[in-house]
Parts: sequence; C-alpha cells; structure tokens
Amino acid sequence: MVFNSSIRYVDGSLRIDDVAVAAIAREVGTPTYVYSLKRIGANYERLREAFAPLAGQIHYSVKANGSLAVLRSLAAAGAGFDCVSAGEIDRCVRAGARAEDIVFAGVGKTRAEIAFAVSQGIGWFNVENLAELSYINNAAAAMGADAVKVALRLNPQVTANTHPYMATGHGAAKFGLTADAVGEILTRTSDFSRLDFAGIHLHVGSQLGDTAATLTALDAALELVAGHPRVRTINLGGGLPVAYRFGDEQPSLGGLVSQLDSRLRGYEVLLEPGRSIVADAGVLVAEVLYVKRQAGQVFTIIDASMSELVRPALYDAHHEVAPLRKTIGETVRAQVAGPVCESADVLARDRQLPRLQAGDRVALLTAGAYGMSMASNYNARPRPAEVVVSESGAEWRVSRRRESFDDLARFEK
Ligand code: LLP
Repeated sequence: MVFNSSIRYVDGSLRIDDVAVAAIAREVGTPTYVYSLKRIGANYERLREAFAPLAGQIHYSVKANGSLAVLRSLAAAGAGFDCVSAGEIDRCVRAGARAEDIVFAGVGKTRAEIAFAVSQGIGWFNVENLAELSYINNAAAAMGADAVKVALRLNPQVTANTHPYMATGHGAAKFGLTADAVGEILTRTSDFSRLDFAGIHLHVGSQLGDTAATLTALDAALELVAGHPRVRTINLGGGLPVAYRFGDEQPSLGGLVSQLDSRLRGYEVLLEPGRSIVADAGVLVAEVLYVKRQAGQVFTIIDASMSELVRPALYDAHHEVAPLRKTIGETVRAQVAGPVCESADVLARDRQLPRLQAGDRVALLTAGAYGMSMASNYNARPRPAEVVVSESGAEWRVSRRRESFDDLARFEK
C-alpha cells in the first residue's frame, strides 16, 4: 500500500523512503515525529514547476513546520520563507536563508520585531494596519534603510470554503485591511518616504476546499491596484489543501495556475504554501499503551496526545492511523485516544482498525504540518523527538532530541 512517493508499506512494514519506521521507533522511542526530506523537496519542486508560468517566488510558510532541519533543506533547494514572528525570521537566518528571501507577515508585529526584521534586511513586509507602516518607516529611517518593500494585506471580505478557524478573509476576521483602507493608503504613499508600496497580499484561508474565494479576492485586489502602476507584485498567500483521508484526491495545480495565469499577466506572483509542502512528508509515531473495552467501545490508548498533535482536538481534523506492521484480518471500530486529561484528547474517532495490542506501534499520517509546530508541554509532557530521513532517502538522524524533565524545569526558579 502506497500513501505517497515516500511513505508506504514494503513487505508489510511501514517505510519512509528506504527506512523502516519501526527501526527509528526502536532506537528513538515514541512519540516521535519523522519527516521525509525527500518528500518535502518533491512537494516544493512540484509547486515550483506548476507555478513557473507565473514566474514568482515560493516563500515556505514556516509556521507549518519550523524545524531547522526542514528549513535548511528548503533553503538549500532555493525556497524563500514566510515568517510571522522575529523568532521565525531568526530560525530562517540560522538555517541559511538569504534575508531578501524572507517575508514578514502577521497581524500584530511588535516594534521590536519590526526593528529586528529591518535590521536583517528582509525582502518584504506584509502589512495589516496603518500604524504598522509608520513603525516600519521609522525603523527604516533610524537604520538608514531605503525602499523597504511592503505588500498591503487586503481583507477581501469573502468566506473561504474551509474550517471556520482557518478562514481569514471574511469581513469579521481580524486579518488584513479593508479595500477602502488599502485604497486610501495607496493615495498617500508619499507619507512613508522609506517604503516601497510594491505589492498586495492576500490569504483567504488554509486547507481551501476550492479556488472560488481566492479568485474573488484576487479580482478585488486587481481592481483596487489598477490605477497604481507601482504595485507589480501579488502575494497569493498559502492555503493549498492536502489529502488527509485515504482516497482523497489532491486537487490539480494546473487548473488553478491556468485560472490565475490569465488574470496575473504582467505581475510578479508570490506564494506562501505551508501545509502543501510538509504535511504529507511527516508522521507522528506512537505506541499503544492499553486497549480498553468499555461502554460498547474500544479505546486504544496511545502514548501520543493532543499535546503533541492538537489538530484533532482543535479542528476535529482527520489523521489516518497506520500500524507500523501491516496486519491483515479482522478489524475493529476503535477510538484512538491519548493520555491527556481532556475529553478532547482523541486523535482518531470511530476508526476501523486492525486489532491492536499494547506494545504495537502506529503512525498518525499527514502530520508534518502544524504538528510539532503547535505542540505544547500540557500535562508536563516533554515535547517529542524529531527525526529526518535524508534527501537521498537512505539515512536518518535525530534532528531534535526528545525534551527531558530538566528541559521542562529550566526556566523556573
Ligand atoms: N500565509 C498566511 C498569511 C497564513 O496565515 C498562512 C496560514 C499561510 C500562509 C500558510 O497556509 P497553508 O499553506 O499552510 O494553508 N493550524 C491550522 C492552520 C492554520 C493556518 C494559519 N495560516 C491547521 O493545523 O490546519
């Protein structure tokens, strides 16, 4: 059975590229995130090629997975980076990114973060309110920086087809500037002598079910900038969906690109994909601790929880469960739950799974995006180890060791 070009069963054993996941789990323990750098590279290349007709740059959205090993691999492949904090910018610089390939976005940048970003000489600021423009302008003046590129983020007031927590472009969302505000700012750009108002930024949501909201937003943006020839760059944000369920199809990129191409001739196009580059390259490996039959249900209690992977609890998100050793035969309807003291700590509900026993290991699939990056220490759980399988697919290494109790106590006195 093949999940994607890197993650599949070979002779009944789950592999990531050439490496048996069970071998990693034996050495590193569980819970552990494992990522295929080969699959991450392939996803990046697939997007780069598909969007090549639009001739823009891809800024990988660091929030999806900010592991240094992942950032280094993408930087070496030529990717740029979309950051939402000074901390993310710092990680990208450490990973070898060029400052001009970094975009700084976010609805609440502090003045210190803005100063840090200007001092690094990053490529773009995606701007979400008027006062922020003054802060960037002042920081640039103080540091002698000129022509700092800004993209005004338009809130196009369209509701994207996705989970309400992931829709960002509707009128009630905190994100972006209204069309009126963008129009207003574009008439007074001379107030900000250090800024180059070269772009418009859009991001209507994540895991988008279709392209309708993106195209509506784009049309609104193009209408808005029609009288402003200085604006030559359109940043379309992220949001490309991935297949979380067996049998889900990934939508074709070709269709989207051709819809965009006719509208965007003459513009430079930037993208900020996160999930579509890393999600299906990562799994969270866990061990079955107990199997409990109760109230007509089978609870499979594993050693991973909402502390390590919060998506099911937060968005009712679906992650497939794949045993590391494939078993054929009878299946049972089970609730795969974690040890955390919350009823929401169920990682997979009502799944038809092989009969698992204590000691068996499973992988939660498509966990490479918004997994470790959203992990917490809730219930004083040390955050898991991270392992990367190399770009060649042949070797693996621990890229982040498991946290210890000392780590958890380190900042307290
Ligand atoms: N650009 C902006 C301005 C964003 O807000 C986001 C995601 C992205 C790019 C990247 O979007 P992507 O390509 O990954 O869809 N924690 C949620 C997802 C939140 C997304 C936040 N913004 C989840 O686990 O599904």
